[in-house]
Amino acid sequence: MKTILVTGGAGFIGSNFVKTMLDKYPNYKIINIDALTYAGNLENLKDIDYNENYTFIKADIRARQKIDKIFETYDIDMVVNFAAESHVDRSIVEPEIFLTTNVIGTQVLLDIAKKHWNLNPKDKYCKEYKEGVKFLQVSTDEVYGALGKTGMFVETMPLMPNNPYSASKASADMIVRSYYETFGMPINITRCSNNYGPYQFPEKLIPLMINNCLKGKELPVYGDGMQIRDWLHVLVHCIAIDTVLHKGVVGEVYNIGGNNEKANIDIVKLIIKTLGKSEDLITYVKDRPGHDRRYAIDNTKITTELGWEPQYTFEKGIKETIDWYLDNIDWIENIVSGDYMRYYESMYGEVY
Ligand code: NAD
Ligand code: TYD
Repeated sequence: MKTILVTGGAGFIGSNFVKTMLDKYPNYKIINIDALTYAGNLENLKDIDYNENYTFIKADIRARQKIDKIFETYDIDMVVNFAAESHVDRSIVEPEIFLTTNVIGTQVLLDIAKKHWNLNPKDKYCKEYKEGVKFLQVSTDEVYGALGKTGMFVETMPLMPNNPYSASKASADMIVRSYYETFGMPINITRCSNNYGPYQFPEKLIPLMINNCLKGKELPVYGDGMQIRDWLHVLVHCIAIDTVLHKGVVGEVYNIGGNNEKANIDIVKLIIKTLGKSEDLITYVKDRPGHDRRYAIDNTKITTELGWEPQYTFEKGIKETIDWYLDNIDWIENIVSGDYMRYYESMYGEVY
């Protein structure tokens, strides 16, 4: 029996994670807190609305008193921190909120967890600790910066972020590490590659291209389209996070990748082909400033030490993902029209 505080659980990966955990652990309680920014959508969670092991609370991770109250009300054993501003393009236009949410928000969570878990800076191995606790920070491979044509990211590499989003995630990683070193906070950091799958907000490459393709709209490919990402199915990622949460060695960082490098243009062409549309829709547009050329994850640590494997082929995953968007056109339409926010704002007020 554990109570897990999931932050950002109304977003893409968080909502998939909440459902994965409720399915897998019938005796766990999941408390999902989310500020419901533009990226949070409670429709992602409607299947579990009535699950008695699940509680949703609208809360901002920067709101210290509210987070404190949540820890006081629920006996939290573990925190999995997904809450973040997550879109690189937005971070180029409006960097500040990336720092307040991704860095300060993470520090607030760490501070409140430290207080309720009785971590003591003067004696980090004191016996008063709450047993079996963990703080898992969901980070990104983007903190390592960009790779050239060869090589892969390993956990020991220096962090060299190139855009405000990845710089804010790298900063959060540093704060999490410091709470481990200074206060003995039992932490893990996971750094995953690009996720794809159901419920991804249609500002990211794959759902944006599917949506535009279906509507016969232009498909904006940045620069020459030869940037490479290592695509990881979201459900495979959720299993990896669960593995690290339960088996990860305290204080360690684990990379999580799909062993699946693809150039953006090839993904776009695959979507066009699967949907039976024309490549004339492809429109090459001005490149993103600071655009990282290639990401590739070395999975050796998590596979050899924790026994997790990325068991899902991209061919199967992308086909299922495209089918999911085709079967859930209303889900995208509610987002595009903005209805998803108006509807849920009227349903969920402030809890504290
Ligand atoms: P997302 O943008 O879909 O979801 C983020 C969620 O966080 C939303 O529900 C949003 O409402 C919530 N949120 C934002 N600010 C908040 C705040 N101040 N307080 C509480 N909630 C807040 O993001 P995602 O794609 O699901 O990513 C989840 C995590 O995984 C992020 O930390 C991201 O950096 C990391 N990550 C994502 C990817 C990817 O490919 N999607 C890859 C690597 C790492
Ligand atoms: P994105 O999904 O924004 O993820 P990230 O920037 O975190 O990797 O973008 C994935 C890749 O696709 C990235 O190289 C930028 C590129 N891209 C486009 O070419 N066109 C687009 O409209 C978008 C959203 C992304």
